[in-house]
Amino acid sequence: MDMSHRPRRLRSDGVRSLVRETELSASDLVAPVFVDATTDERVPIGSMPGHTRVPVDQAAERVREVRETGVEAVIVFGVPESKDAEGSRAWADDGVVQRAVRRIVEETDAYVITDVCLCEYTDHGHCGAIESGARADPHMTVDNDRTLELLAKTAVSHAEAGADMVAPSSMTDGMVGAIRTALDDHGFESLPIMSYAAKYESAFYGPFRDAADGAPAFGDRRHYQMDPANGREATREVALDVEEGADVLLIKPALAYLDVVADVRETFDHPVAAYNVSGEYAMLHAAAEKGWLDLDAVAHESLLSIKRAGADLILTYFAEDVARRL
Ligand code: PBG
Repeated sequence: MDMSHRPRRLRSDGVRSLVRETELSASDLVAPVFVDATTDERVPIGSMPGHTRVPVDQAAERVREVRETGVEAVIVFGVPESKDAEGSRAWADDGVVQRAVRRIVEETDAYVITDVCLCEYTDHGHCGAIESGARADPHMTVDNDRTLELLAKTAVSHAEAGADMVAPSSMTDGMVGAIRTALDDHGFESLPIMSYAAKYESAFYGPFRDAADGAPAFGDRRHYQMDPANGREATREVALDVEEGADVLLIKPALAYLDVVADVRETFDHPVAAYNVSGEYAMLHAAAEKGWLDLDAVAHESLLSIKRAGADLILTYFAEDVARRL
């Protein structure tokens, strides 16, 4: 047996860190923040231990807590005071995200990203305006082209409130181009777009839908979010967003889609983001609660793996916990 190759030589304590390929840092992480216009106190999110929905007047304080851990960026989600068929509270100047962002920008130095979608704002819970008759017919779905205009208005209103970056997540064809044009028309040509470029129709979003109250009232999202079976299609999806002017390419979910993260890293030069989603967070917490997993260890290992696969930045509910221990 030829024993000249012994990879174990580089695993001793002194050298391990010298040859380590991947490092996690607080500056890679983005912490999701939920702001709720229907409450005046923090409401714990049952399926996401440690997370709450905060009232608008605590949004800045919540972001300061994130900043204290070393995490520099947040992504803001809103729960509006009311919903309608088109989701008009999404682009209202006094909407929940707009009010919260103004406060956060004024009172903190965090980098503020906003999620641009309509599912939390529509009474039917879909990510855009729906075709007439869609409520009765499971084959009908979101009216793609009409939704573009609503998303564009929403993105502009977030920019006007002071957002540093917008992140459209509705999987509407053409959304990046429509938002880019609208932002440019309103003087926000320097504001970057992080596109949820390959977002899958995933069962891992379950706990988020409790958190943001955005579950579809009928049907599901399979006509606009991607089929979990498809990897090559992600390259096409992402290429379209690149052409339309996306600045950062986001893959979602993360852990079950690391092949997609790696492919996108390989194929494109843009920064790649991965969203370590609510279900990925909840399942580790659930197992840890039973004493079956060491939560800190699996959280760290999950984020490290997402980076190793090729993500530059990670949106994660573990951001604060992991950053605190780095
Ligand atoms: C809005 C949106 C969702 C998530 C982020 N933005 C929900 C969905 O598409 O159903 C999910 C985030 C998570 O599960 O952590 N469209």
